[in-house]
Amino acid sequence: MEGHLHEWANLLIRWLHITVGVAWIGASFYFNWLENQLERDGDKPEGVEGTLWAIHGGGFYHLRKFQVAPARLPERLHWFKWEAYYTWISGFLLLAVVYYLNARTNLIDPSVADLSPLTASLIGLATLALSWLVYDGLCRSPLGRKPVALAAVLFALLVLLAWGLSQLFSGRGAYIHVGAAIGTCMVANVFFVIIPGQRAMVAAMQAGRAPDGARGRAGALRSRHNNYLTLPVLFIMISNHFPGTYGSHWSWLILVALAAVGIVIRHYFNVRHLPGRHWPLPVLALAGLVTIVAATAPVALQKNGGDGAGPTVPLAQVRPVIEQRCAVCHAARPSFGGFATPPKGIRLDDDDAIRQHRQQIGQVAVRTHIMPPGNITGITEQERALLERWLNQTAP
Ligand code: HEC
Repeated sequence: MEGHLHEWANLLIRWLHITVGVAWIGASFYFNWLENQLERDGDKPEGVEGTLWAIHGGGFYHLRKFQVAPARLPERLHWFKWEAYYTWISGFLLLAVVYYLNARTNLIDPSVADLSPLTASLIGLATLALSWLVYDGLCRSPLGRKPVALAAVLFALLVLLAWGLSQLFSGRGAYIHVGAAIGTCMVANVFFVIIPGQRAMVAAMQAGRAPDGARGRAGALRSRHNNYLTLPVLFIMISNHFPGTYGSHWSWLILVALAAVGIVIRHYFNVRHLPGRHWPLPVLALAGLVTIVAATAPVALQKNGGDGAGPTVPLAQVRPVIEQRCAVCHAARPSFGGFATPPKGIRLDDDDAIRQHRQQIGQVAVRTHIMPPGNITGITEQERALLERWLNQTAP
């Protein structure tokens, strides 16, 4: 029953998180696109910076952007903030359900650091709060007036965070906390800087004062950061489907390398409408991706058994290991507490199923050590070596 409820909580919160996240990032991409495509030349009404025609869903739209603000405030002005807030709230709940309530399986890896679930969860929460305090402090410091230097320092801190967390948590736990820390900064930017800045702007207009330029600039800087962080955060959101990334010995380096590629791609989309040569950016991103793919290629495992280099390992020898170390969870009816169904629908409780999932077993239990999670069933190095010999045989 507990496992059943847990699974539904995970599903429903995740569904909500993805939906509001799509709405937030979609709106953010749309406004960036508007800004970049605005027609600034030609005849425009007084006080208008640019206009734009679009067709969508069978209708024509004509938008205008004001240089500062319209002469009179409209009665209904739409704000874009709840998408961001709901993304954080749902993301935080998901973090709690998946990682803090199941810290032993998802957050902790005793071979990395033998933390108690409470300590691990507190470190996780502190990471989110500290990330924002440090980031916000740097933006407000004199460094905040040098956007390029600030970006370099922030990226260095991102590397440090990814590395540091990889020394404390399981690969998955480290990845999700880097993502949650970035996401927290992005939402806090909206909540503490961008929206209050816009409120002050509206209030100034209503009082007939000129809006405060410094607040406008602060908001623009934070918006920029949010813009560049979207692709890295989206990668981290899907990364838990890819054990080859977070399960790698170099998990933190893979994360920051992919984040860098995401930032370059985002930069290309930000500047490609401007005059100048921009093709080196996608080429650079592609070269980065090719390098990452090549660098993460599995080292060829030594051939055993199949080509006569060692004794053949029959399935009968592997079966007890899988039964004991894996099938407590990966069975039609898991005996491990908290699981109602086999995780990811992967059953390893009979010979056919084991053969069918051969490749995946190699990926999660030999090439990487992400299974059993937190090595909760205590698989030994000898047993992993046995699995490896079995996998390397040409005839399974
Ligand atoms: C404590 C329960 C538990 C044990 C024991 C366990 N697993 Fe898992 N396994 C999980 C969970 C939970 C997931 C889903 C992780 C996720 O949410 O991505 C999973 C996912 C997997 C996946 C899919 C990975 C992916 O994302 O594509 C494979 C393959 C797998 N396990 C194999 C194994 C093998 C092999 C063993 C034994 C060496 C094992 N598991 C032991 C709980 C367990």
